[in-house]
Amino acid sequence: MGFYFCKYFLIAILWVLALENGGFFLLSNGGITSTFVRNEEKSIDMPFDSDVFKVPPGYNAPQQVHITQGDHEGKAMIVSWVTVDEPGSSTVVYWPQDGTKKDQTTGQISTYKYYNYTSGYIHHCTLNNLEYNTKYYYEVGIGHTIRTFWFVTPPEVGPDVPYTFGIIGDLGQTYDSNITLTHYEMNPVKGESVLYVGDLSYADHYPLHDNRRWDSWGRFVERSVAYQPWIWTAGNHELDYSPLIGENKPFKPFLHRYHVPFQASGSTEPLWYSIKRASAYIIVLSSYSAYSTYTPQYMWLMEELPKVNRSETPWLIVLMHSPWYNSNTYHYMEGETMRVMFESWFVQYKVDVVFAGHVHAYERSERISNIAYNIVNGECTPVHDQNAPVYITIGDGGNIEGLATDMMDPQPKYSAFREASFGHATMAIKNRTHAYYSWHRNADGYAVKSDSMVFYNRYWYPKNDSAIQT
Ligand SMILES: *[C@@H]1O[C@H](CO)[C@@H](O)[C@H](O)[C@H]1NC(C)=O
Ligand SMILES: *[C@@H]1O[C@H](CO)[C@@H](O)[C@H](O)[C@H]1NC(C)=O
Ligand SMILES: *[C@@H]1O[C@H](CO)[C@@H](O)[C@H](O)[C@H]1NC(C)=O
Ligand SMILES: *[C@@H]1O[C@H](CO)[C@@H](O)[C@H](O)[C@H]1NC(C)=O
Ligand SMILES: *[C@@H]1O[C@H](CO)[C@@H](O)[C@H](O)[C@H]1NC(C)=O
Ligand SMILES: [Fe+2]
Repeated sequence: MGFYFCKYFLIAILWVLALENGGFFLLSNGGITSTFVRNEEKSIDMPFDSDVFKVPPGYNAPQQVHITQGDHEGKAMIVSWVTVDEPGSSTVVYWPQDGTKKDQTTGQISTYKYYNYTSGYIHHCTLNNLEYNTKYYYEVGIGHTIRTFWFVTPPEVGPDVPYTFGIIGDLGQTYDSNITLTHYEMNPVKGESVLYVGDLSYADHYPLHDNRRWDSWGRFVERSVAYQPWIWTAGNHELDYSPLIGENKPFKPFLHRYHVPFQASGSTEPLWYSIKRASAYIIVLSSYSAYSTYTPQYMWLMEELPKVNRSETPWLIVLMHSPWYNSNTYHYMEGETMRVMFESWFVQYKVDVVFAGHVHAYERSERISNIAYNIVNGECTPVHDQNAPVYITIGDGGNIEGLATDMMDPQPKYSAFREASFGHATMAIKNRTHAYYSWHRNADGYAVKSDSMVFYNRYWYPKNDSAIQT
């Protein structure tokens, strides 16, 4: 009794102190380590019979419906779904909101086995030559149980096209994951597509990587991803590498279930690729594929960066799973080897922002680089660099592994804001110079910005945006 009284009394005092400090303690020589008081109970996966995992009714009804961009410019959409009773039709019927004529196109079916699990019939169908900026309805399940969804295509690629992205990472399928997704849906800043920074279902948390958890995850996120594209990045929980049970082909379930338009950007693997969407150029990298000199990913990125035309797409955004700058003890320095390989290119080509996941907390860096070191000169400390991206770690979707609360102390100077709370972010591009970014913790109201920054474009308006908050 006394213990609990003390605990709550202490929390109350902390709150008063926090309020007096404008909401934060400044604990170190770096930026802000928020001391927001949260519930640190373990995250629990929602049971299979949860409402969010409900199998749609009807014979062979399509489930786990999801869409992603299907070409390089945003005029195509890949529609994917799973049927379980029989293969059924891979045809998608679709039409623009104001149109009278229905189009249809047919995709392909595949299945895979994982140890003693056999997948349902996985359908992927690409809708091509769509009009920009148009609402389309689409039907799947032709011949059996038809389900109808819709999406809005992005505006034509151009330098001043406003567009809003949501950013989510490491979501998993716990009660907290559901809160994160709900907050994204309810956020008054309306995301039009999601930049997903890896670690989807966490099926590998279960014995034998129980792939039924891939299916339940697909049903859980359908309520968002059937209506707006999620741009996929592979994380370590997509590896599903388990040679002891004979599963030695990395990424097998992920690659069967989630297709991306990698060939459209000249990539040879779906694990790294790029797309243009509105005024943004998005490069997706794989932390878990080779990236040293001469490897396919290295060669692709070397040729890719000079192709980005900032007069067409001013905003250059990179997605990866393992962060290069992370001051949490969890996964500390895991992204270091990739940083050493690619960071100088990011500075040379003025990447605006890098989003990563992996660490189950939130962190935003200053614009810094650490590219002067040459083995002998000892210059191995990050320095302020206005040509460098801001690095944002947002692996705080809410998965079963819980929050990463243990941070390096003191907070490094380059770290502008960090906090171990679940949440998501949005990035609202306004024009070629300005983008409004904000992070939204689950414990706050839907409209609350728990961290925010106005981004000045590195190519068109490379002014110091370090302390510009909304
Ligand atoms: C797979 O094997 C596990 C462990 O033996 C068992 O619990 C499970 O029911 C099996 N699943 C199928 C689909 O046979
Ligand atoms: C998940 O969130 C939705 C929307 O808030 C809610 O309707 C549903 O009951 C939640 N399910 C679980 C299992 O928490
Ligand atoms: C870059 O994009 C602009 C605007 O679309 C275009 O006018 C210009 O020709 C492009 N530059 C190159 C090198 O393709
Ligand atoms: C770009 O957007 C910002 C923020 O809305 C605004 O202040 C600025 O005037 C805009 N620039 C142009 C050229 O319209
Ligand atoms: C950018 O602005 C911040 C905050 O005003 C300041 O601390 C920092 O020194 C500035 N950086 C540069 C390179 O001017
Ligand atoms: Fe991860």
